[in-house]
Amino acid sequence: AAIQGGVLAKERRDLKQQEVNDKAKEEAAKTDIGQDWNDPMVAPNERRFASDLRQRTQNGASQEVPEWKRIAAGRGDMGKKTTASIEEQRRGLPAYRFRKEFLSAVEQYQLLIVVGETGSGKTTQLTQYLAEEGYSDKGMVGCTQPRRVAAMSVAKRVAEEVGCRLGEQVGYTIRFEDKTGPDTCIKYMTDGILQREILLDPELSKYSVVMLDEAHERTITTDVLFGLLKKTIKRRPDLKLIVTSATLDAGKFSEYFLGCPILHIPGRMYPVDVLYSREPVSDYLDEALQTVMHIHLTEAPGDILLFLTGKEEIDQSCETLFERMKALGPSVPELIILPIYGALPTEIASRIFEPAPSGGRKVIIATNIAETSITVDGIYFVVDPGFVKQSAYDPKLGMDRLQVTPISQAQANQRKGRAGRTGPGKCFRLYTELAYNNEMLPTTIPEIQRQNLGHTILMLKAMGINDLLGFDFMDPPPTNTMLTALEELYALGALDDEGLLTRQGRRMADFPLEPALAKSLTAAPDLGCADEMLSIVAMINAGQTIFHRPKEKQQQADQKKAKFHDPSGDHLTLLNVYHGWKRAGKSDPWCFENFIQPKTMRRAEEVRKQLVQILERHRLKVVSCGRDTTRVRQALCSGFFRNSARKDPHEGFKTLVEGTPVYMHPSSALFGKTAEHVVYHSLVETTREYMHNVTAIEPKWLVEVAPTFFKVAGKDGLGMSKRKKAERIQPLHNRFQGEDDWRLSAQRR
Ligand code: CDP
Ligand code: MG
Repeated sequence: AAIQGGVLAKERRDLKQQEVNDKAKEEAAKTDIGQDWNDPMVAPNERRFASDLRQRTQNGASQEVPEWKRIAAGRGDMGKKTTASIEEQRRGLPAYRFRKEFLSAVEQYQLLIVVGETGSGKTTQLTQYLAEEGYSDKGMVGCTQPRRVAAMSVAKRVAEEVGCRLGEQVGYTIRFEDKTGPDTCIKYMTDGILQREILLDPELSKYSVVMLDEAHERTITTDVLFGLLKKTIKRRPDLKLIVTSATLDAGKFSEYFLGCPILHIPGRMYPVDVLYSREPVSDYLDEALQTVMHIHLTEAPGDILLFLTGKEEIDQSCETLFERMKALGPSVPELIILPIYGALPTEIASRIFEPAPSGGRKVIIATNIAETSITVDGIYFVVDPGFVKQSAYDPKLGMDRLQVTPISQAQANQRKGRAGRTGPGKCFRLYTELAYNNEMLPTTIPEIQRQNLGHTILMLKAMGINDLLGFDFMDPPPTNTMLTALEELYALGALDDEGLLTRQGRRMADFPLEPALAKSLTAAPDLGCADEMLSIVAMINAGQTIFHRPKEKQQQADQKKAKFHDPSGDHLTLLNVYHGWKRAGKSDPWCFENFIQPKTMRRAEEVRKQLVQILERHRLKVVSCGRDTTRVRQALCSGFFRNSARKDPHEGFKTLVEGTPVYMHPSSALFGKTAEHVVYHSLVETTREYMHNVTAIEPKWLVEVAPTFFKVAGKDGLGMSKRKKAERIQPLHNRFQGEDDWRLSAQRR
């Protein structure tokens, strides 16, 4: 009931949010959101290589590094923690005094909830205690994290503490990257990885203990794992399940987990003064940076943590702060500016743990990843503008979209707490106390109640879980959300008329890809273009952008990129890049010359290899279509027909499904070209909705690849009036509702 009340409250606040979003859009528009560059703060050895190269080639200028980053990266005096002190550090953590109690509880109970302040040592210590106690002799100690960066950084830290190399006794697995080995006994992984493993092995026989960490984050995957693991532990009485969290409604969790015991790690928290803004803040970004400067220049020593919403905002702020500091000259104490967000490579992420040089201080500018996933010691000041970027399903676009939203009270308090770990701290809230009390939800709405469930439902169906309405969710998703996802999977051919998994659906579920991409890839062998589609899918999933576009050399970079442009769009442009890279012997100098990110290319190659293995397992033929790339575009259509748009006679495009206005991104190969019908991979919202990765198509393909979704009407091909659409989509919905209701009642009986 609390959550439903919350939803209503959220709706009431929509107007307010709109304002905030507009603001964020403006901000985002100022930076070049479409062409973000790979973070150049690479490992020192690579830096040297890059600068060597710059001297050798005239065009090797793709290594331009903003000054603030170079300084942050190149500091020699930010000393590493020494190995000698690691034991002391471990013994100093609150978890250490709790060790005995914890281990005896694990021995006694199969299921356990552990609650402890962030930084008390749950993630890094509990796994080690279990391994030290011998649990890893009977199987691995697995620990899930909602975020990839957290999984990697924590594994790295624990490997250091254990004294092994990463991938030996301690390792991690994230999508497309497995750093574990035969000796691994403590394995960190994203929750998505465990969900995949449980699909293949419902008993999780490789594990002796599974720790679901950061449970308060309530990601869709964690929520689904709750339900799945509840089943697993019934089948495996020897498997231990530990659910850990910083702050959570422990009572609700315990009730859901069969009344299991709750253990509290005794905290060690200092008081934190909260300073509210007296008036509503109009420009939170500017206010935030001013506050940071104010703290730096007037407050006592201690590091600062500033929460912003995303990469662009953070990079921009780092730069602005750096410029402001520079303008003040050498008379003011040093301020080390460090960004941290999900897409940052680990080498950089680990820098935030290094202490600031004496006399100076560091400011860490982070996304909500620093709320609980990553703990940095020495933070005395928190600056909290009160916003977070959250993904939510947008019915108008028929897809999830990232939006800047106010945080919840629980999040605000979590952020505040970050200032009180080392000593008494201060938290600057850039919103009024009134806003905190009246406008913020008490807790965040779990992802499962606001996001697209296509991928999740495909996984559940692949596990033979057909009765979705009867699935044991802690907070069930809205029925409509489930129906939308079912309908989507049906249109993709993953489910049949009865809502059961098809062969096609089973195949799709085996690929760690969003359903639309999985569909395109699995449709490719029949069209004789699997080779091409593999490369494209791999390039899209390589993590970061392929094209490097430094601020000072945008024109040059764009010219180079234009050479790869394919007349039919961005997907085939990616393919051209991939082929070019292969022809050039995968050489780095070739990359620099062409403003291509070599790291991303290597990652794409790795992703490609793994996808090939899955295709082969399904005995799908990896053949090439040669120059007949029409087939590639057809295969794309078969996955992305929902993301189709038609040129609007007036301006831009309109989506075929809802008639929402969308626009060609200026970076697209099709920008300024005459494409009538297109499909796109995603939408990026800055000042308007921009289509990203766009390919021109023939409208008749849509009808061919998704006959249940599109039908020919009128003389020009597609009938897209609202009424026609209703005629088409409505019966589908009803059928599913009927089916599911029927199945539900049949099983309940
Ligand atoms: O999981 P929980 O928030 O309870 O704490 P943790 O992540 O296990 O962190 C325990 C301690 O290890 C903290 O003091 C962190 O600062 C430190 N740590 C670190 O130095 N480097 C990391 N990569 C992760 C944690
Ligand atoms: Mg943790």
